[in-house]
Amino acid sequence: MSEPPLRVRGLTRRYGELTAVDGLSLEVRAGEILGFLGPNGAGKSTTLRACAGLLRPDAGDILIAGASLAAAPLRARALMGFVPDRPFLYERLSAREFLDFVGALYGLAPDACAARAAALLARLDLVEAADDLIEGCSLGMRQKVSVAAALLHDPPLVMLDEPLQGLDPRAARALKDLLRERAAGGGGVLVSTHLLDVAERMCDRVVILHRGQKVAEGSLEELRGASGLEASGAPATLEDVFLELTREEAAEGGR
Ligand SMILES: Nc1ncnc2c1ncn2[C@@H]1O[C@H](COP(=O)(O)OP(=O)(O)OP(=O)(O)O)[C@@H](O)[C@H]1O
Ligand SMILES: [Mg+2]
Repeated sequence: MSEPPLRVRGLTRRYGELTAVDGLSLEVRAGEILGFLGPNGAGKSTTLRACAGLLRPDAGDILIAGASLAAAPLRARALMGFVPDRPFLYERLSAREFLDFVGALYGLAPDACAARAAALLARLDLVEAADDLIEGCSLGMRQKVSVAAALLHDPPLVMLDEPLQGLDPRAARALKDLLRERAAGGGGVLVSTHLLDVAERMCDRVVILHRGQKVAEGSLEELRGASGLEASGAPATLEDVFLELTREEAAEGGR
C-alpha cells in the first residue's frame, strides 16, 4: 500500500473559545505502532475522535489509507477500526451478537465474520462470556469486546484511546500481542496511553501532544537526542523526555 494508514494535516478542532487541537499533522506508517502521548486535556481523544469521523474538524485533512474522511467518509471509515476511551456497546446483545452486528455493518460474509469473531473472542479470553448479555459484563470485558469489534474487519488502520484501561495483565498482554501482529502484517496502529513504560516497549515511534500541539515526534532514540537530556548524564527514559517537554510554566496555568 503506497498511502500510509493515516495522514493528518493541519488538524484544528475548537470547543467554543478553546482550541483543543491546534494545527496538528502526523502520520501512521504501514507496519508501525505509533504511541500518542500527552498530559490530561492535551487533545488526544479529540484528535482520535476526529480521525474516527465522530467529530468534524474546524480545519485540516484526514486521510485513512488514502481515503479522505471529508470527501469519502464511508470509504474512509471502512478502512479503520476505533476503540474509544469509553466503549459504546449495545447492552441487550451478547458479545457474539454484537460482533455479528458489527460484521454486518461492515458487509462481512456471515461465515467469515463468525470465524473471525470466534478467533478474536478466543484470543481475548472472552469465549466463556461470549453469549452473556453485555449489560452483565465487567469493565475489562466490555473493553475487550470493543477491541474485538474494532479488529473484526481487519482494517489497515486501528486507533485505540487508552485501550489498556481496565484490562488485567493477561488481557493487556493479549491486546499488545494483537497490535504487534497487526503492525507486523503491514497495518498501522495509533494508540493513546498514559503508560509511558508500556509505550516505551510497545511503540515504534511516539508523538507527544501538549496543549493541542505536537511537541515531539520520533523513536525513543530520536526523542532522547532532541530533548538534550542525554547530555546531563544517565540515559533519559521516555518519562524523563515527556516530563521535560510537557512542563507547565508556573505562570501559564492549566487548561
Ligand atoms: N465535548 C467537549 N466540550 C468542551 N470541551 C471539551 C470537550 N471535549 C474535550 N474538551 C476539552 O478539550 C481539551 C482536550 O480534551 P481531550 O479529551 O481531547 O484531551 P485528552 O488528551 O484526551 O485528555 P485525557 O488524557 O484526560 O484523556 C480539554 O481541555 C477538554 O476539556
Ligand atoms: Mg482522552
